[in-house]
Amino acid sequence: MSRRRRLDPFDLRIDGLAKGGVGCGVAPDGKSMHVRGAPPGSVIHVVPQGFRKGTWQGRRVRMVEEPPEMVAPKCAVFGLCGGCQLQELPLDAQRVHKTKLAVTQALGEAGPENVQVHPTRGAADAYGYRNKVELSFGVSRFLSEEDHANGVPIEGRFIGMHAPGRFDRVVDSERCELIPEAGNQALTLVRKHALAESAPIPWNVREHTGFWRHLMIRASEVDRELLIALYTASPEEGAAEVVTALAEALMAFEYADGWSVAGVIWGINDGVADVARGEVQQLWGRDTIQESLLGRRYRLSATAFFQTSTKGAERLYETIGEALGSPSGTLVDLYCGTGSIGITLAEGFDRVVGVELVEAAIHDARANAEANGVTAEFRVGKVEDALDVLKSTEGRRSLVVDPPRAGLHPKVAKALATATAEVLVYVACNPASLGRDRAFLEAGGWKLAELWVVDLFPHTGHTEVVGRFVRDTQGEG
Ligand SMILES: C[S@@+](CC[C@H](N)C(=O)[O-])C[C@H]1O[C@@H](n2cnc3c(N)ncnc32)[C@H](O)[C@@H]1O
Repeated sequence: MSRRRRLDPFDLRIDGLAKGGVGCGVAPDGKSMHVRGAPPGSVIHVVPQGFRKGTWQGRRVRMVEEPPEMVAPKCAVFGLCGGCQLQELPLDAQRVHKTKLAVTQALGEAGPENVQVHPTRGAADAYGYRNKVELSFGVSRFLSEEDHANGVPIEGRFIGMHAPGRFDRVVDSERCELIPEAGNQALTLVRKHALAESAPIPWNVREHTGFWRHLMIRASEVDRELLIALYTASPEEGAAEVVTALAEALMAFEYADGWSVAGVIWGINDGVADVARGEVQQLWGRDTIQESLLGRRYRLSATAFFQTSTKGAERLYETIGEALGSPSGTLVDLYCGTGSIGITLAEGFDRVVGVELVEAAIHDARANAEANGVTAEFRVGKVEDALDVLKSTEGRRSLVVDPPRAGLHPKVAKALATATAEVLVYVACNPASLGRDRAFLEAGGWKLAELWVVDLFPHTGHTEVVGRFVRDTQGEG
């Protein structure tokens, strides 16, 4: 066994953030170490857990020295649940460290030479910003070391997020601070009914037995409505009555601040895959709610894709609009999902053309365009198979690409490099992908002129970056 692998537990000073929002510092052997839930500026007592690709992974045991801006995390299960990593820092400090990471990932160590980097923006709300949460029921929970040592039982009836890296354990949670208060009130009702001793037992993900599987809560801030989906295995005797009592209680409850439940969907999932999906068995109320982005309305079913931070998405879409500049001609929206970028920013363009792989998303995109009076053509397919959209449109053309984490397919990068357009706006949920694809685009004559970092998800390590590419000579292809 190598010397590195025998590193003893030690106190690690956290200098900054690394990929995924983990804290990073330098171990006594000079190698870098990554630790989940470790805020920059703190000193953490860590247990080294493994060494991969030149970097140690460490587990936080306790905080030895607080960061100078330390704040108390709001969440009772912070550190256990994998959802948030940075609740111990105020929002502005989180953004400083997240920006540094995103800019380095997007622009490399050379930094912003010849690229204008704008101040980071994001939603003003640090908590309660998520419009959707999916929780899992389970029969085994993940405990803190202290609870473990105190003999707190692991087996029982629970609901929460899966613990990081533990598909079989949930972090039992009474609340999630990232969702609106009404969502937490609904969660309390679900816990009361579904986790009662007399209720059917939750799903056992190892043995594929049990009843309750997932809870999805979707929230519309604009209409103050919740849409709730309960996913279970097929009901045995008496189970349907329990679901009915729960659904009726969810519909009837008087929620805080005038919120209400628009509908409760009961879906059956007897499959092995641990996904919050199921064939609809029964519906109470409506099966859709509406959300609004910069004044455009979107109708959402339980399973429809939508940006999960509404106010964060508004800042992101405003930024994309700013990066596009003055609108005219055709807006080409590649990897368009449910079409929300093109539809939200359609004003001033003659038409929107979108391409997306998932058929259901295109179905929603067409309905959303029609409902918002936007002239649009949305196509189902792979962008790499639809590159004619870069040629077929007459007149002025502006391009937006919002690819998945892996970035552009090489065929797409090549076609975009030589495409004739006024401007190309690259939206990246993985800033490193923009960094890699920039080289292809610049080889074709584009130049990355401006970069924005948008913080959609406070307390997580996630950021989006928006890059504005321009031609040195406008219109040259
Ligand atoms: C980051 S999301 C962008 C969603 C959308 N622009 C929005 O703001 O809501 C990336 C989208 O690309 C789609 N996608 C993935 N690979 C694709 C491909 N090869 N061709 C077309 N779409 C693809 C995914 O289904 C997903 O909807």
